[in-house]
Amino acid sequence: PDINTLPGLLLHWYDVHAREMPWRVGPAQRKAGILPDPYRIWMSEIMLQQTTVATVRDYFQRFVTRWPTVRDLAAAQDADVMGEWAGLGYYARARNLLKCARAVVDEHGGVFPADHDALLKLPGIGPYTAAAVSSIAFDLPHTVLDGNVERVMARLYDIHTPLPAAKPLLMAQAQALTPAQRPGDYAQAVMDLGATICSPKSPACGICPWRDPCAARDAGTQNLLPKKTPK
Ligand code: ADE
Repeated sequence: PDINTLPGLLLHWYDVHAREMPWRVGPAQRKAGILPDPYRIWMSEIMLQQTTVATVRDYFQRFVTRWPTVRDLAAAQDADVMGEWAGLGYYARARNLLKCARAVVDEHGGVFPADHDALLKLPGIGPYTAAAVSSIAFDLPHTVLDGNVERVMARLYDIHTPLPAAKPLLMAQAQALTPAQRPGDYAQAVMDLGATICSPKSPACGICPWRDPCAARDAGTQNLLPKKTPK
C-alpha cells in the first residue's frame, strides 16, 4: 500500500496487525486472490451485530460445523437453529438468518449475490450488513459504518457534532476515504483499528497508523469524541 495516503497507511498497518478470526481471510491470502466464503462473512456479521467477537467465535464455529453451506442452513429445522442460537440474544436475528438462507436458495440458486443492492433486499440484511458482505466477501468498494468506524472518523476529522446527528457526516467522511484498491481489507482494517487502538477510552494514539493525520490527536480532543446527544 501507498503509505503516503490515509488508506495506504492503514492497510500497511493491517498487513502486520490484522486480527485472526475464524471467518476471516488474512491480507496475505487476499493478495494471492483468495476471497472468503460469503456465507461465512454474512453469518459472522449478523452474529457480530449485538455480540462481541470473543463470544461469536464459538457460536460461529458450531453453526458452520453443523450447517457448512447456505443450502444446509436453509434446509434446517427452525427449532434446531433457534436452539444453536440460544444465548446470543436478539432472536429476531436467528429468525432472519433462516429466512435469508432460504431466500438465497429460492431466489439466487444458493449463491449470495455479489451485488450490494441485491443483498440489501434479503431478509435481515440492512445497510451495514450489505456493505460488510459487499466489501469483505466480494471486494466491492462499499463503506461499513459501525460504532467503531464512527469513533475513528469523529477523531480523525475532529468532528464535534453529537451522535446520532453526526451519522450522515461521518458516513460521508468514511465514504470519501474508502479506497478502490483492497476495499475488503480496508473495511476490516478500520474496524480492527477502532476495536484495538482507537478504543473508546484511552486510545493508544502513540502506536496508531493515523496518529500524524489525526485532527483530534492534534487538538487533544480524542477522549471527548465522539460526542453523544444525552438521552
Ligand atoms: N466487527 C464486526 N464486523 C467486524 C469485522 N469484519 N472485523 C472486525 N470487527 C468486526
